[in-house]
Amino acid sequence: MGINILGIGSYVPEQKLTNDDFKKFIDTNDEWIRTRTGITERRMAGWEPAWYMGKQAALEAIGQSGINPDEIGLIICTSVTSDFLTPSMSCIIQNEIGAKNAASFDLNAACSGFVYALDTASRFLDTDPSLKYVLIVASEALSRFLDFEDRTTCILFGDGAAAAVVERSDKMYSSYLAADGSGASSLYARSLSVAPEIAVEKEFDDGFEVKDNMHRLIQDGKTVYKFAVNALPAAFEQAAAKIGVSKDDMDFFIPHQANMRIIETAAKKLGVPIDKFVVTLDHYGNTSSASIPLALCEAIRNGTVKKGMKIALIGFGAGLTYGGIIMEY
Ligand code: UT7
Repeated sequence: MGINILGIGSYVPEQKLTNDDFKKFIDTNDEWIRTRTGITERRMAGWEPAWYMGKQAALEAIGQSGINPDEIGLIICTSVTSDFLTPSMSCIIQNEIGAKNAASFDLNAACSGFVYALDTASRFLDTDPSLKYVLIVASEALSRFLDFEDRTTCILFGDGAAAAVVERSDKMYSSYLAADGSGASSLYARSLSVAPEIAVEKEFDDGFEVKDNMHRLIQDGKTVYKFAVNALPAAFEQAAAKIGVSKDDMDFFIPHQANMRIIETAAKKLGVPIDKFVVTLDHYGNTSSASIPLALCEAIRNGTVKKGMKIALIGFGAGLTYGGIIMEY
């Protein structure tokens, strides 16, 4: 069983942050950022909560689908930058869009979140005949978790959201989800939880570095880079092997948008020309779980990806997680 994307939408904050803007507070320059990452600018959420960006993307996706919000049976939100620990972002969006019949939960697989959520949706649709439509919303306000004094990390990320309404279909479909938790401490942000004074204190090394600005994103870029250049090809190859398709059957690859050099290396390893890869990181940076659907949404909007085309969504991220979906748009 496969899935059909009925509608897709996106939202990015108005405020742009160019590479030159970073020169005001860190020792960097446009040339370094462009040549090492491919990023030129990114968006930054000022007043917008992450749930609000997700709601706007969801409304566009629902509008394009031509369904009523009360026909949605399940909402899955993905985010590493939720506004609240609880309630889930999906419950907030459920209320905001009037999807009163939708079960709602959040899923955190970091930058692989949209791939994980789409596959979760396909499995719900496969096993519950009463479920017609699933709404997936990926929304990230990473700027609120960045250390703007850490020049190796803060220049990489941007804010934005994208959403899709999916239904079951008999189109081609395959997926592969994976994780390697041994790399968990190479990319993380702590929650702001603090033990109360009456709690028993004891030295405890949890394997994650402790810094003063403890909820900021901390990354060992080189380790993540090495993981990514193998994870992206593996995500495709594992999903492809399940249904006996090859790279040559694909019209487009929509990879996680982290670094142009990672995408180029993955394309080379797969033996796929780079122009078969959709790239939006130049103007959005890395928007974590929103990056794949944002890129897909843009490629559909500008006519690159058309109905009937075979596409591969391949992601990797903190966890470390990775995964791929092969489907027909
Ligand atoms: O979804 C999350 C996934 N995360 C990723 O995909 C990140 C994967 N990693 C990367 O993309 C790369 O490792 C980075 C872009 C983060 C870093 O690139 P790099 O080629 O590995 O650079 P580096 O860390 O080896 O740094 C090289 C030099 C260093 O200077 P020295 O020690 O050689 O003098 C850095 O201090 O570049 C310096 N540097 C900068 N210079 C100007 C680091 N950041 C900057 C900067 N501007 N923003």
